[in-house]
Amino acid sequence: MTLVELDVVARWLHLLGLLVWIGHNYANVIQRPRYVAVDAMDAAATEQLFMQAARREHGTFRYASLVVLASGLYMLWFRGIVADALALRGQFAVLGLGVWIGLLMTANLWFVLWPHQKKVLGFVPAPHAERVRCTRVTFLSSRTNTILSFPAVFLMIAGAHAPMLF
Ligand code: HEM
Repeated sequence: MTLVELDVVARWLHLLGLLVWIGHNYANVIQRPRYVAVDAMDAAATEQLFMQAARREHGTFRYASLVVLASGLYMLWFRGIVADALALRGQFAVLGLGVWIGLLMTANLWFVLWPHQKKVLGFVPAPHAERVRCTRVTFLSSRTNTILSFPAVFLMIAGAHAPMLF
């Protein structure tokens, strides 16, 4: 496969990965439009909530973020604009800002959401009060990525198709 063909495959994987990753976030907004204070529930209801979350946990959306990151970095490298985009130089500043938001979203998912989610799910042992606290952290972390996805999509598309407008 030539590098050009790989660039086309990378763009396809970039958008597919996004559909899974950000799609999961949007589905969360529909399923849980607002945070329900878990500690207001009795122990049995809380345990059932934790078990439901554990059964739903498949990790696909988390690994989709790595597909988005790898395909995005390949497309940057293929265009020879890694440094220009990350340094927000000239016409690459628009795409670059989108990339920085994308990197922030990926770090939020892997270094904030997932470590706390593991406690909620019982994959990492934690006292009940700590698991309850983590449900709020995971809710806010997920919502943050949902909101960040709006400027990220805009800046990526504008950076890809209309950098001269900026
Ligand atoms: C994680 C780091 C990311 C990197 C390094 C990255 C990099 C890139 C690059 C280089 C392009 C192609 C630009 C061009 O055609 O000149 C692109 C396109 C795009 N990216 Fe990203 N991206 C990342 C994350 C994201 C995220 C988080 C989103 C959305 C939430 C996103 C949405 C898009 C969209 C919608 C396109 C335009 C596709 C098109 O119009 O063909 N990217 N990205």
